[in-house]
Amino acid sequence: MFSNPTLDVPVRPRRLRTSGPMRALTAETRLAPANLIQVLFVRDGIDSPVEIASMPGQYQHTLDSVLPEVQKAIDAGVAAIDLFGVPKDEDKDAAGSVAWAEDGILNRAIAAIRQEFGEQIVIIADTCLDEFTDHGHCGPLSTDDFGVVSVDNDAAVEAYCKMAISQAKAGAHTVSPSGMMDGQIAAMRAALDDAGYSHVSILAYSAKYASAFFGPFRDAVGSTFTGDRKTYQQDPANRRESLYEAALDIEEGADMVMVKPATAYLDIIREITDFSPVPVAAYHVSGEYAMIEAAAAQGWIDRKAVALEALTGIHRAGATMILTYYATEAAGWLNQR
Ligand code: PBG
Repeated sequence: MFSNPTLDVPVRPRRLRTSGPMRALTAETRLAPANLIQVLFVRDGIDSPVEIASMPGQYQHTLDSVLPEVQKAIDAGVAAIDLFGVPKDEDKDAAGSVAWAEDGILNRAIAAIRQEFGEQIVIIADTCLDEFTDHGHCGPLSTDDFGVVSVDNDAAVEAYCKMAISQAKAGAHTVSPSGMMDGQIAAMRAALDDAGYSHVSILAYSAKYASAFFGPFRDAVGSTFTGDRKTYQQDPANRRESLYEAALDIEEGADMVMVKPATAYLDIIREITDFSPVPVAAYHVSGEYAMIEAAAAQGWIDRKAVALEALTGIHRAGATMILTYYATEAAGWLNQR
Protein backbone atom coordinates (compact mmCIF):
# COMPACT_ATOMS: atom_id res chain seq x y z
CA MET A 1 0.00 0.00 0.00
CA PHE A 2 2.37 2.63 1.28
CA SER A 3 5.44 0.62 0.50
CA ASN A 4 7.18 0.61 -2.79
CA PRO A 5 6.00 -2.55 -4.62
CA THR A 6 9.43 -2.95 -6.15
CA LEU A 7 11.02 -3.11 -2.70
CA ASP A 8 10.85 -6.70 -1.52
CA VAL A 9 10.96 -6.57 2.29
CA PRO A 10 9.19 -9.54 3.87
CA VAL A 11 10.72 -8.93 7.29
CA ARG A 12 9.52 -5.69 8.81
CA PRO A 13 10.34 -5.20 12.52
CA ARG A 14 8.29 -2.01 12.44
CA ARG A 15 5.09 -4.13 12.56
CA LEU A 16 5.62 -4.56 16.28
CA ARG A 17 5.97 -0.82 16.85
CA THR A 18 2.66 0.18 15.27
CA SER A 19 0.73 1.16 18.42
CA GLY A 20 1.08 1.66 22.13
CA PRO A 21 -0.61 -1.66 23.00
CA MET A 22 1.51 -3.48 20.38
CA ARG A 23 4.67 -2.03 21.89
CA ALA A 24 3.49 -2.88 25.40
CA LEU A 25 2.68 -6.42 24.32
CA THR A 26 6.13 -6.99 22.91
CA ALA A 27 8.20 -5.07 25.47
CA GLU A 28 11.10 -7.19 26.69
CA THR A 29 11.67 -5.22 29.88
CA ARG A 30 9.07 -3.89 32.24
CA LEU A 31 10.16 -1.65 35.03
CA ALA A 32 7.90 -1.96 38.07
CA PRO A 33 7.71 0.04 41.31
CA ALA A 34 8.92 -3.02 43.22
CA ASN A 35 12.21 -2.88 41.30
CA LEU A 36 12.98 0.51 42.83
CA ILE A 37 14.67 1.36 46.11
CA GLN A 38 14.19 4.88 47.48
CA VAL A 39 17.37 6.38 48.92
CA LEU A 40 16.76 8.64 51.94
CA PHE A 41 18.96 10.77 54.19
CA VAL A 42 18.29 11.42 57.88
CA ARG A 43 20.24 14.15 59.63
CA ASP A 44 20.80 14.70 63.32
CA GLY A 45 20.32 18.07 64.97
CA ILE A 46 17.95 19.77 62.52
CA ASP A 47 14.33 20.82 63.15
CA SER A 48 13.04 20.74 59.60
CA PRO A 49 14.16 19.06 56.36
CA VAL A 50 17.04 20.68 54.48
CA GLU A 51 17.07 20.55 50.68
CA ILE A 52 20.33 19.28 49.23
CA ALA A 53 21.74 22.05 47.04
CA SER A 54 23.20 19.86 44.31
CA MET A 55 20.26 17.43 44.37
CA PRO A 56 17.13 19.57 43.96
CA GLY A 57 14.05 17.79 45.26
CA GLN A 58 16.07 15.63 47.67
CA TYR A 59 16.26 16.39 51.39
CA GLN A 60 18.15 15.68 54.54
CA HIS A 61 15.24 14.57 56.69
CA THR A 62 14.50 14.80 60.36
CA LEU A 63 13.32 11.72 62.26
CA ASP A 64 9.80 13.09 61.85
CA SER A 65 9.91 14.14 58.21
CA VAL A 66 11.35 10.84 57.01
CA LEU A 67 8.28 8.86 58.08
CA PRO A 68 5.84 10.37 55.53
CA GLU A 69 8.48 9.78 52.84
CA VAL A 70 8.51 6.10 53.72
CA GLN A 71 4.71 6.05 53.65
CA LYS A 72 4.74 7.62 50.17
CA ALA A 73 7.19 4.97 48.97
CA ILE A 74 4.96 2.20 50.34
CA ASP A 75 1.85 3.73 48.78
CA ALA A 76 3.60 3.90 45.39
CA GLY A 77 4.60 0.23 45.58
CA VAL A 78 8.31 0.79 46.18
CA ALA A 79 9.62 -2.32 47.93
CA ALA A 80 12.60 -0.93 49.84
CA ILE A 81 14.30 2.15 51.20
CA ASP A 82 18.05 2.63 51.59
CA LEU A 83 18.93 4.83 54.55
CA PHE A 84 21.94 7.04 55.14
CA GLY A 85 22.63 8.88 58.41
CA VAL A 86 24.15 12.34 58.71
CA PRO A 87 25.49 12.92 62.24
CA LYS A 88 26.27 16.26 63.86
CA ASP A 89 29.78 17.47 63.08
CA GLU A 90 30.74 17.36 66.75
CA ASP A 91 29.82 13.66 66.93
CA LYS A 92 32.31 12.67 64.22
CA ASP A 93 35.65 11.19 65.25
CA ALA A 94 38.57 9.43 63.60
CA ALA A 95 36.99 6.00 64.07
CA GLY A 96 33.43 6.99 63.16
CA SER A 97 32.21 5.48 66.42
CA VAL A 98 28.80 7.15 66.44
CA ALA A 99 27.99 4.85 63.50
CA TRP A 100 27.36 1.93 65.83
CA ALA A 101 25.96 3.91 68.78
CA GLU A 102 22.44 2.81 69.61
CA ASP A 103 21.42 6.47 69.79
CA GLY A 104 23.29 7.39 66.59
CA ILE A 105 21.09 9.08 64.01
CA LEU A 106 21.01 6.18 61.56
CA ASN A 107 20.10 3.62 64.19
CA ARG A 108 17.40 5.87 65.61
CA ALA A 109 15.94 6.35 62.14
CA ILE A 110 15.97 2.61 61.44
CA ALA A 111 14.22 1.93 64.75
CA ALA A 112 11.58 4.61 64.17
CA ILE A 113 10.82 3.36 60.67
CA ARG A 114 10.71 -0.30 61.65
CA GLN A 115 8.45 0.54 64.58
CA GLU A 116 6.09 2.51 62.35
CA PHE A 117 6.04 0.32 59.24
CA GLY A 118 7.09 -3.17 60.33
CA GLU A 119 7.30 -5.47 57.30
CA GLN A 120 5.53 -3.13 54.89
CA ILE A 121 8.81 -2.12 53.28
CA VAL A 122 12.34 -3.52 53.31
CA ILE A 123 14.65 -1.34 55.38
CA ILE A 124 18.16 -1.35 53.97
CA ALA A 125 20.81 0.38 56.07
CA ASP A 126 24.00 1.77 54.61
CA THR A 127 26.85 0.16 56.49
CA CYS A 128 29.78 2.47 55.94
CA LEU A 129 31.75 4.92 58.01
CA ASP A 130 32.44 7.90 55.76
CA GLU A 131 29.48 9.91 57.06
CA PHE A 132 30.66 9.31 60.61
CA THR A 133 34.44 9.83 60.47
CA ASP A 134 35.87 13.34 60.88
CA HIS A 135 38.24 12.75 57.94
CA GLY A 136 35.48 11.39 55.69
CA HIS A 137 37.18 8.14 54.70
CA CYS A 138 35.27 4.86 54.79
CA GLY A 139 37.25 3.52 57.75
CA PRO A 140 39.95 4.38 60.28
CA LEU A 141 43.30 5.48 58.87
CA SER A 142 46.69 3.97 59.52
CA THR A 143 50.20 4.94 58.50
CA ASP A 144 52.66 2.38 57.23
CA ASP A 145 56.44 2.21 57.76
CA PHE A 146 56.98 4.54 54.81
CA GLY A 147 54.55 7.20 55.94
CA VAL A 148 51.77 6.21 53.55
CA VAL A 149 48.37 6.91 55.08
CA SER A 150 45.45 4.74 54.03
CA VAL A 151 42.28 3.13 55.34
CA ASP A 152 43.13 0.22 57.62
CA ASN A 153 41.25 -2.64 55.95
CA ASP A 154 40.89 -4.99 58.88
CA ALA A 155 40.09 -2.29 61.42
CA ALA A 156 37.42 -0.95 59.05
CA VAL A 157 35.89 -4.40 58.67
CA GLU A 158 35.77 -4.82 62.45
CA ALA A 159 33.92 -1.51 62.72
CA TYR A 160 31.50 -2.44 59.90
CA CYS A 161 30.64 -5.62 61.82
CA LYS A 162 29.78 -3.62 64.94
CA MET A 163 27.76 -1.24 62.81
CA ALA A 164 25.89 -4.06 61.07
CA ILE A 165 24.94 -5.66 64.38
CA SER A 166 23.71 -2.32 65.73
CA GLN A 167 21.63 -1.82 62.57
CA ALA A 168 20.15 -5.32 62.79
CA LYS A 169 19.32 -4.66 66.41
CA ALA A 170 17.63 -1.37 65.48
CA GLY A 171 15.45 -3.21 62.94
CA ALA A 172 17.22 -3.16 59.58
CA HIS A 173 16.12 -6.04 57.35
CA THR A 174 19.23 -5.69 55.19
CA VAL A 175 22.67 -4.22 55.76
CA SER A 176 24.70 -2.90 52.88
CA PRO A 177 28.46 -2.54 53.27
CA SER A 178 29.67 0.03 50.76
CA GLY A 179 33.28 0.44 51.89
CA MET A 180 34.94 -1.95 49.41
CA MET A 181 37.16 -3.46 52.13
CA ASP A 182 38.53 -6.92 51.49
CA GLY A 183 36.77 -9.67 53.41
CA GLN A 184 33.95 -7.43 54.61
CA ILE A 185 31.13 -9.76 53.56
CA ALA A 186 32.44 -12.93 55.20
CA ALA A 187 33.24 -11.06 58.42
CA MET A 188 29.85 -9.35 58.52
CA ARG A 189 27.97 -12.59 57.83
CA ALA A 190 29.77 -14.31 60.68
CA ALA A 191 29.27 -11.36 63.03
CA LEU A 192 25.53 -11.15 62.29
CA ASP A 193 25.10 -14.90 62.68
CA ASP A 194 26.98 -14.93 65.99
CA ALA A 195 24.82 -12.10 67.29
CA GLY A 196 21.60 -13.95 66.43
CA TYR A 197 20.80 -12.11 63.19
CA SER A 198 21.13 -14.91 60.66
CA HIS A 199 17.87 -13.73 59.07
CA VAL A 200 19.28 -10.29 58.26
CA SER A 201 20.45 -10.14 54.65
CA ILE A 202 23.51 -8.51 53.10
CA LEU A 203 23.37 -6.35 50.00
CA ALA A 204 27.01 -6.12 48.98
CA TYR A 205 28.34 -3.13 47.09
CA SER A 206 30.50 -5.48 45.07
CA ALA A 207 31.59 -3.37 42.14
CA LYS A 208 31.84 0.14 43.45
CA TYR A 209 33.95 2.48 41.38
CA ALA A 210 36.01 5.47 42.54
CA SER A 211 33.56 7.68 40.70
CA ALA A 212 33.23 11.41 40.15
CA PHE A 213 29.49 10.78 39.80
CA PHE A 214 29.34 10.66 43.62
CA GLY A 215 30.05 14.41 43.81
CA PRO A 216 26.63 15.66 44.96
CA PHE A 217 26.41 12.89 47.59
CA ARG A 218 29.12 14.68 49.55
CA ASP A 219 26.70 17.62 49.89
CA ALA A 220 23.96 15.26 50.85
CA VAL A 221 25.89 13.88 53.82
CA GLY A 222 27.58 17.15 54.71
CA SER A 223 30.99 15.65 54.10
CA THR A 224 34.13 17.74 54.34
CA PHE A 225 35.98 14.99 52.50
CA THR A 226 38.67 15.98 50.07
CA GLY A 227 40.86 13.63 48.10
CA ASP A 228 39.76 10.33 46.64
CA ARG A 229 38.98 6.74 47.50
CA LYS A 230 41.13 5.15 44.83
CA THR A 231 42.95 2.84 47.23
CA TYR A 232 39.71 1.03 48.04
CA GLN A 233 37.13 1.75 45.33
CA GLN A 234 37.71 0.40 41.84
CA ASP A 235 39.33 1.95 38.80
CA PRO A 236 36.66 2.86 36.19
CA ALA A 237 38.93 1.31 33.56
CA ASN A 238 38.43 -2.18 34.96
CA ARG A 239 35.95 -4.88 34.06
CA ARG A 240 37.38 -8.22 35.13
CA GLU A 241 38.06 -6.83 38.60
CA SER A 242 34.32 -6.27 39.06
CA LEU A 243 33.51 -9.83 38.10
CA TYR A 244 36.12 -11.01 40.59
CA GLU A 245 34.79 -8.75 43.37
CA ALA A 246 31.23 -9.95 42.78
CA ALA A 247 32.31 -13.59 42.71
CA LEU A 248 34.21 -13.14 45.97
CA ASP A 249 31.24 -11.45 47.65
CA ILE A 250 28.90 -14.23 46.55
CA GLU A 251 31.35 -16.82 47.87
CA GLU A 252 31.58 -14.88 51.15
CA GLY A 253 27.81 -15.00 51.57
CA ALA A 254 26.35 -11.90 49.93
CA ASP A 255 22.59 -12.29 49.45
CA MET A 256 22.55 -9.61 46.74
CA VAL A 257 25.32 -7.85 44.85
CA MET A 258 25.47 -4.30 43.52
CA VAL A 259 27.11 -2.29 40.79
CA LYS A 260 27.61 1.44 41.36
CA PRO A 261 27.27 3.90 39.60
CA ALA A 262 24.85 2.56 37.01
CA THR A 263 24.61 4.25 33.63
CA ALA A 264 28.33 4.42 32.90
CA TYR A 265 28.67 0.76 33.99
CA LEU A 266 25.85 -1.03 32.15
CA ASP A 267 28.33 -3.55 30.72
CA ILE A 268 29.34 -4.52 34.25
CA ILE A 269 25.71 -4.90 35.34
CA ARG A 270 25.09 -7.17 32.35
CA GLU A 271 28.13 -9.32 32.87
CA ILE A 272 27.54 -9.82 36.58
CA THR A 273 23.87 -10.62 35.90
CA ASP A 274 24.96 -13.28 33.43
CA PHE A 275 26.73 -15.35 36.09
CA SER A 276 25.34 -14.24 39.42
CA PRO A 277 23.20 -16.79 41.26
CA VAL A 278 21.95 -13.96 43.50
CA PRO A 279 19.90 -10.86 42.57
CA VAL A 280 21.83 -7.94 41.13
CA ALA A 281 21.24 -4.31 42.12
CA ALA A 282 22.53 -1.11 40.60
CA TYR A 283 22.79 2.34 42.15
CA HIS A 284 21.75 5.31 40.01
CA VAL A 285 23.86 7.75 42.02
CA SER A 286 23.73 11.40 43.03
CA GLY A 287 25.61 12.73 40.00
CA GLU A 288 23.41 10.78 37.61
CA TYR A 289 20.38 12.34 39.31
CA ALA A 290 21.92 15.83 39.38
CA MET A 291 22.76 15.77 35.66
CA ILE A 292 19.18 14.95 34.71
CA GLU A 293 17.83 17.59 37.10
CA ALA A 294 20.22 20.27 35.87
CA ALA A 295 19.54 19.69 32.18
CA ALA A 296 15.79 19.44 32.78
CA ALA A 297 15.81 22.70 34.75
CA GLN A 298 17.33 24.37 31.70
CA GLY A 299 14.56 22.96 29.57
CA TRP A 300 17.08 20.96 27.58
CA ILE A 301 15.65 17.50 28.21
CA ASP A 302 12.33 15.97 29.24
CA ARG A 303 12.91 15.17 32.92
CA LYS A 304 10.40 12.35 33.34
CA ALA A 305 11.20 10.69 30.01
CA VAL A 306 14.95 10.79 30.59
CA ALA A 307 14.68 9.53 34.17
CA LEU A 308 12.48 6.60 33.10
CA GLU A 309 14.74 5.84 30.15
CA ALA A 310 17.80 5.73 32.41
CA LEU A 311 16.06 3.43 34.89
CA THR A 312 14.70 1.20 32.12
CA GLY A 313 18.18 0.91 30.63
CA ILE A 314 19.63 -0.12 33.97
CA HIS A 315 16.88 -2.71 34.39
CA ARG A 316 17.39 -3.99 30.83
CA ALA A 317 21.11 -4.36 31.54
CA GLY A 318 20.12 -6.86 34.22
CA ALA A 319 19.58 -5.06 37.51
CA THR A 320 16.57 -6.48 39.35
CA MET A 321 16.78 -3.70 41.93
CA ILE A 322 17.66 -0.06 41.33
CA LEU A 323 18.65 2.27 44.13
CA THR A 324 17.57 5.72 43.00
CA TYR A 325 16.56 9.15 44.23
CA TYR A 326 13.67 8.92 41.76
CA ALA A 327 12.15 5.73 43.20
CA THR A 328 8.89 7.00 44.68
CA GLU A 329 8.30 9.55 41.95
CA ALA A 330 9.14 7.09 39.18
CA ALA A 331 6.87 4.49 40.77
CA GLY A 332 4.08 7.07 40.56
CA TRP A 333 4.80 7.56 36.87
CA LEU A 334 4.79 3.80 36.29
CA ASN A 335 1.50 3.41 38.13
CA GLN A 336 -0.12 5.95 35.80
CA ARG A 337 0.90 4.11 32.65
C1 PBG B 1 30.13 6.06 50.78
C2 PBG B 1 29.06 6.22 49.80
C3 PBG B 1 29.08 7.10 48.73
C4 PBG B 1 27.87 6.95 48.08
C5 PBG B 1 27.13 6.01 48.76
N1 PBG B 1 27.88 5.55 49.82
C6 PBG B 1 30.09 8.07 48.33
C7 PBG B 1 31.47 7.63 48.10
O1 PBG B 1 31.79 6.45 48.12
O2 PBG B 1 32.30 8.52 47.91
C8 PBG B 1 27.46 7.71 46.87
C9 PBG B 1 26.03 7.68 46.53
C10 PBG B 1 25.66 8.67 45.51
O3 PBG B 1 26.51 9.35 44.91
O4 PBG B 1 24.46 8.79 45.26
N2 PBG B 1 30.08 4.90 51.50
